[in-house]
Amino acid sequence: MNLTLRIWRQQNAEAPGEFGTYEIGDVSPDISFLDLLDLLNEQLLQNGEQPVAFDSDCREGICGMCGLVIDGIPHGPAEASTTCQLHLRSFHNGQTITVEPWRSAAFPVIRDLIVDRGALDRIVQAGGYITAPTGSAPEANSIPVPKKDAEAAFDAAACIGCGACVAACPNGSAMLFTAAKVAHLNRLPQGRPERDRVVRMVAAQDALDFGGCSNTGQCTAVCPKEIPLSAIATLNRELLSR
Ligand code: SF4
Ligand code: FES
Repeated sequence: MNLTLRIWRQQNAEAPGEFGTYEIGDVSPDISFLDLLDLLNEQLLQNGEQPVAFDSDCREGICGMCGLVIDGIPHGPAEASTTCQLHLRSFHNGQTITVEPWRSAAFPVIRDLIVDRGALDRIVQAGGYITAPTGSAPEANSIPVPKKDAEAAFDAAACIGCGACVAACPNGSAMLFTAAKVAHLNRLPQGRPERDRVVRMVAAQDALDFGGCSNTGQCTAVCPKEIPLSAIATLNRELLSR
C-alpha cells in the first residue's frame, strides 16, 4: 500500500501545532497502525528529520497506552479496537489518513501525538484503597457473588484507561471511564465497604478539566472494550444512593 499521512506535530503544550504531510510507500496491509508509524519514523530518521512522538506499550490491546485520533475517530475506523490492534487493511491503497492526538482540555499535549492522561489517574486516586485483610488468599467460595454481578463487574473491569471516551465526547466528559471504575468495584461485595468512593471520584472528575455527561453516547461507540452506557447508569445510582 502507498499512503499519505497528515500527522499533528507539536513541540510541547505551549507551542502552536501544525500538520506535517508524509508519504510512505510499499507497506503491507497486514501491519498495524503503530508499525506504520515505526516505519515512518525510520524513514524520518534516515532523512535526518525528527521522528513522530507517540505512545505505546503492550501493542496487544490491553495496556491503554496507545491512542490516536485517526480520521476524526479515536482509535480509528475499526470497531472495538485499540490503535495498536488496527491494521492497514482497514484503509485503502492511496488513502490520505489524518492522525491527531486526543483532543481534550484535560489531556494537554506533551509532544506530537502524546498527551498527558494523568487526570484519569487522579480520578482513580480519589477513589482510595480497598480494605482487605492481608495474608493468604481466602477460599474462593467463601464470599458468594451472584453471577450477574460478577459478570457486570468483570465487563466494567475491562476498561484499559485509554481515554478514547473523553476524546470522543463533545463535552470532554470522563463519565464512561469513571463509571467503569466505580461499576467494577462497587458491584462486588469486596468493594462495597468503600462504596463512598463514587462521591470522591465524581468530585475529582468535576474538579479536573472534564466536562459533564449529556448522554450523547459517543464514548461507548469508540470504546475499545465496549463499556456500555449502562455503566454510567450504575454510577448515577451509586452516587444518588450515597
Ligand atoms: S471506558 Fe473505554 S474508552 Fe474509556 S478509558 Fe475505558 S476502555 Fe478507554
Ligand atoms: S499499546 Fe497497549 S493497548 Fe495499545
